[in-house]
Amino acid sequence: MKGLHFMRMITETYDAVIFDTIAVAENGWAIDILDQTFLPHDHVIKRLTKATEGGEAISAMRVRGAPLIGVTAAYTMALAMKENAGDKNLRCAAEILRNSRPTAVNLAWAVDQMLKLLLPLEPSVRCKAAYQRANEMAGKDIATNLAIGEHGLTILEKIKKKKKEECEPINVLTHCNAGALATVGWGTATAPIYLAHRRGINLHVWVDETRPRNQGASLTAWELSRNKVPHTVISDNVGGHLMQNGKVDVCITGSDRTTLNGDVANKIGTYLKALAAHDNGIPFFVALPSSTIDCKITDGVKDIPIEKRQSEEVAWISGKTESGKMERVCIVPEGTPVENYAFDVTPAKFITGLITERGITEASYAGLTALFPEYKRQ
Ligand code: MRU
Repeated sequence: MKGLHFMRMITETYDAVIFDTIAVAENGWAIDILDQTFLPHDHVIKRLTKATEGGEAISAMRVRGAPLIGVTAAYTMALAMKENAGDKNLRCAAEILRNSRPTAVNLAWAVDQMLKLLLPLEPSVRCKAAYQRANEMAGKDIATNLAIGEHGLTILEKIKKKKKEECEPINVLTHCNAGALATVGWGTATAPIYLAHRRGINLHVWVDETRPRNQGASLTAWELSRNKVPHTVISDNVGGHLMQNGKVDVCITGSDRTTLNGDVANKIGTYLKALAAHDNGIPFFVALPSSTIDCKITDGVKDIPIEKRQSEEVAWISGKTESGKMERVCIVPEGTPVENYAFDVTPAKFITGLITERGITEASYAGLTALFPEYKRQ
């Protein structure tokens, strides 16, 4: 299998930051995912054997993060083809997946790639072709993130040079989890961090807890600690204070959808961090694979669909009690109306630069199309 072989090669070469977020099982067709709803307390691998289970894993956020959602959708379409490779089933699986999480454009990107590949093929060869393409996407995700890491590393190296003391750490602030867990390996925002750490650059990461689902506190902190990267979890309101007091050198976040003029949709709260960074003259970078670029839209605030999720995610919090039992507790008065917007849009004017697999560029149409001329408007 080309994709898996490629992944192994990269893993061996770089001792990659991979947590087996997704892999084809030993039986050669089922899909094993790391069920992220159990992290950080339990490490549970869930086996997907039906397309409906793949769809559920995405919508219930057992797998999450834009790149990983895309790869999971591709494998889910392979599962659908194993069940029934007819046109009707193919189109139906594509439609269900496309609507399961609306903001991350990688989902639609992966589904469209699979449809384009599979529709012209005879049903008898679709299943094999689908697995092959999904494996390729998984392998490519690792290589893409590594390239993002190498480019982003240059930013951290420049900051290090400006430090007065050699041992003074670089303080990076990140929001949500744009880490290895959000991808097949390395992460996007975390890739430069992991590379810098491995190359002996002293750094420390401020991890926004990221309410309501706490992906920062439970996922980013988990993977940074597994990789021995110094970090501290802060509540979502702390970043501005740290920035005012010189305790943040740079912010790096991920993206769920990037418009051609450089606006970025990312986890709710990203916009407020960008505003605080702007006010304090702190560089604010977004690390993104080109699969998050949506060429069809230019105005992010107006045009990017913002996912709204169940109010329970805000009203209830789950965690481990002192006795080690998982519990859910309600934190609002009974019957209180609650809104749960999952993403917001950071306008390009607040973004210092976009770190992509092809290099770092200005968050603008000119910047993006200089690196990706294939996206130029005709
Ligand atoms: O709701 P989630 O957990 O899927 O949100 C994830 C994010 O917002 C990430 O920052 C984004 O997907 C980029 S992942 C490399």
